Amino acid sequence: MNFYDSEKISDLLKPLGYKPSENLEICDLAILNTCHIREKASEKMYSDIGRLAKYKNLKQKSGNNFKIAICGCVAQAEGKRILEKNKNVDMVFGPQNYHTLPQKLMETSSNKKILDIEFPKESKFDFFQKPCNKGVTAFVSIQEGCDKFCTFCVVPYTRGAEFSRPAKDIIIEIEHLAKLGVKEVTLLGQNVNAYKGVYFSLDGEKKTLDLANLFHEINQISGIKRIRYITSHPADMTENLIDAHYRINKLMPYLHLPIQSGSNKILSKMNRKYTKEDYISLVNKLRKSRKDLALTSDFIVGFPGETSQDFEETMDVIKKVKFAGSYSFKYSPRPGTPAYELENVINEDESDKRLRIIQKELLLQQNDFNNSFIGKDLSVLIEKKGKKNNQYVGRSQYLQPVHVFSKKEIIGKIFNINIKDITAHSLHGEII
Ligand code: 5AD
Ligand code: SF4
Repeated sequence: MNFYDSEKISDLLKPLGYKPSENLEICDLAILNTCHIREKASEKMYSDIGRLAKYKNLKQKSGNNFKIAICGCVAQAEGKRILEKNKNVDMVFGPQNYHTLPQKLMETSSNKKILDIEFPKESKFDFFQKPCNKGVTAFVSIQEGCDKFCTFCVVPYTRGAEFSRPAKDIIIEIEHLAKLGVKEVTLLGQNVNAYKGVYFSLDGEKKTLDLANLFHEINQISGIKRIRYITSHPADMTENLIDAHYRINKLMPYLHLPIQSGSNKILSKMNRKYTKEDYISLVNKLRKSRKDLALTSDFIVGFPGETSQDFEETMDVIKKVKFAGSYSFKYSPRPGTPAYELENVINEDESDKRLRIIQKELLLQQNDFNNSFIGKDLSVLIEKKGKKNNQYVGRSQYLQPVHVFSKKEIIGKIFNINIKDITAHSLHGEII
């Protein structure tokens, strides 16, 4: 979602004459779009500010202006402190306030500090420019914030309460993307499957669309060939949505469905609102609806009170479900969350050991999944050129990166590709 937000920030600043650049030498403004989910991500912001501050001083010495703006979830969580602790930072914006950035940049005198982290009444989405994507895939934010309050997670505090964009706005955005040549959209939300957007039918009747209804609308946009969505909470995986994996032909057979832990005791302490049995039964239903569904998950190890028995239960679920790839993290205590107050934090060595064990198993499963396609065909949307001559890279229906050679320009096309070989990070094949 930060990737999507950064693109929107860049679009919002275009009318003021700003252009994105990787080269600090020619920049007048640096924007750090930050992540607060784990401590490591937050720390990165402070080291980046240090690096930029040195640069700002050099620029100022040679008579040039240079501003530093901090956006995103660290800005939301630590707002005033960032300005107090870092005199070189000029502006701090929350993830729901960055639409005011152009106005603030025009108003501000060179030394005035700006803090904008109040949750606004208006929606930032109403201020966005028409998208100007150049690629064949695009992210589209459809939902933001979260009302689930998992005890380890900062999102409900940094992104705010659940909000779904009106369905029509999303459809207009995707129709526009299709005109620009986008073939695949990934619908984004912290809790995307809780989506409930207002929709006015042609006769003016007000309805609410859930995510499955929204898929149905997007499925009818002819230029769009593929639909994905991320991230889903197991408790919001409705029958309608499960059924959509069977009914909606453009919906890809891939689902990121974080379980976090396989121990019911830990799931309850995390306030995840389901048991491991609920999760397994949900997976069975999903696989009944869409036989070839590829599942991925997130895992947290070392949550306060996680015994080796609890960890074994997580490993047991992993072995039962079989994932196509997953993310796993060491628990990171986040100030302000309920879990931060919990005692019985697992020692670092033990958490490191558990992380190594879980990652080894998840990698094995990912390799098994990929290896199962050797000699078989995958449907691949070609996204860009590869590093080698005549090489192209795309994604399979299961989101695996696939490399292929072609003498013709093939970006934006979908091919059946016969898989010949697998390397550490991708599959290699030939166009049929
Ligand atoms: N510590 C470790 N991992 C976390 N996540 C969220 N909060 C924390 C935390 N405090 C992980 C969860 C979530 C993913 C986006 O980040 O697994 O699904
Ligand atoms: Fe965080 Fe996801 Fe839980 Fe919401 S559902 S609190 S975003 S982990």
